[in-house]
Amino acid sequence: MRDRPAPLKRGLDVDANAVRFANYFHVLREIVHLTSGWLALEPRLEVKYALADHLHDDARAVTKVRRRLYELRHPSDDPGAPGGELLGLLDRMNAAPSPEAYEEIAYAVAKPWLARAFAVHAGLVDPVTDEPTLRLLRQLEERELRHVAELGPDDPRPPQSDLGALPIRERESRALAVMAPLHQPARDAYVEVTDHGDPFLSDELYVNGEQNHVPIEPEEQRHFFHGLMDAELGAAELMGRNMHEHPEMPWDFHVDMARQTWDEARHARVHDILMQTELGCAWGDYPVGFAYFRSIYAYDLLGRLALFNGTSEQRAMWRHSHRRKVLVARGQENVAKVFDYLLADEVPHVHNGTRWGAHLLGGDEGAYRAKVRELRRDLDAGGRPVAAGIHGGSAVAG
Ligand SMILES: [Fe+2]
Ligand SMILES: [Fe+2]
Ligand SMILES: [Fe+2]
Repeated sequence: MRDRPAPLKRGLDVDANAVRFANYFHVLREIVHLTSGWLALEPRLEVKYALADHLHDDARAVTKVRRRLYELRHPSDDPGAPGGELLGLLDRMNAAPSPEAYEEIAYAVAKPWLARAFAVHAGLVDPVTDEPTLRLLRQLEERELRHVAELGPDDPRPPQSDLGALPIRERESRALAVMAPLHQPARDAYVEVTDHGDPFLSDELYVNGEQNHVPIEPEEQRHFFHGLMDAELGAAELMGRNMHEHPEMPWDFHVDMARQTWDEARHARVHDILMQTELGCAWGDYPVGFAYFRSIYAYDLLGRLALFNGTSEQRAMWRHSHRRKVLVARGQENVAKVFDYLLADEVPHVHNGTRWGAHLLGGDEGAYRAKVRELRRDLDAGGRPVAAGIHGGSAVAG
């Protein structure tokens, strides 16, 4: 005999369900937009890393939320425009004058408000007829609570209202505002920033082929990994600005950039750990410089993709694999192993250049490759734009 199942709950109307997802969409999309813009300006290393990690979570959450909206309102996934109380919160988030002020609203108000709405929503749906919603809500709630636990206050102050039940203005849309262009990224006060970076770093570290030098002496390894960490942070910040500055690009572009932002921040974290555990040095021991970052940031999106992803990252693949072999031969297995993963992550990063560079050129991959060739003519042997006049010291993609 089969047991009699519990009766179905009446649950939420499909329409009310969709309105809830539309509200989540607006909060999450704007958090992704603003986090990617502020990332470079947040000076604290640990906070920068957490922001990059959360950015990737939230970018994927937007994809899933919009997908559920599409299923519920088939064939439309139009989230309309936010209304009422939500509009006020989003406007306050956009008006934040500093990364700290933005994080305060995002992590003390917006994310806790989202997490509570997910929990309320999960209690309203019928767990069988609307199981797809329930599974998604549980995943999203767990993530937002983790974000708040990592970067939020002990006493979040979300509004009392139920975010999911707020009105959506149908057939309207909300445009995203882009922050002023970046002058240069921010670092912790204990990190010295100079025009020329670490003078110890030579051009031979960043050239490919026979001229390449893999550092094997302890002192040069310390400088080298410090420079690599600097380069990884700059890469994360560049990808963050790419997504922030181009809200008109397809959503998948933002997901790809968010993934790369997190990857690069994680690479920086790996170097940070290696320096302290294997090399006897620490972040901040040597100066860093932004000359290379600024030379790439000065280009438009196509130029940045062609020069950074399509050239710098593409060429770094050879160096990562070469470094790995040299270090394995020297018995530095733990250090060498890192290059294996840097290399693996680099493959999709190079592809990001091809995918979105071609998109910007009407889907023409050949035109993108031609653009890469054209821009490469203006680079020096270390892969830096000649016009920027950078020599040594400034970290490139690795
Ligand atoms: Fe990297
Ligand atoms: Fe990369
Ligand atoms: Fe890289």
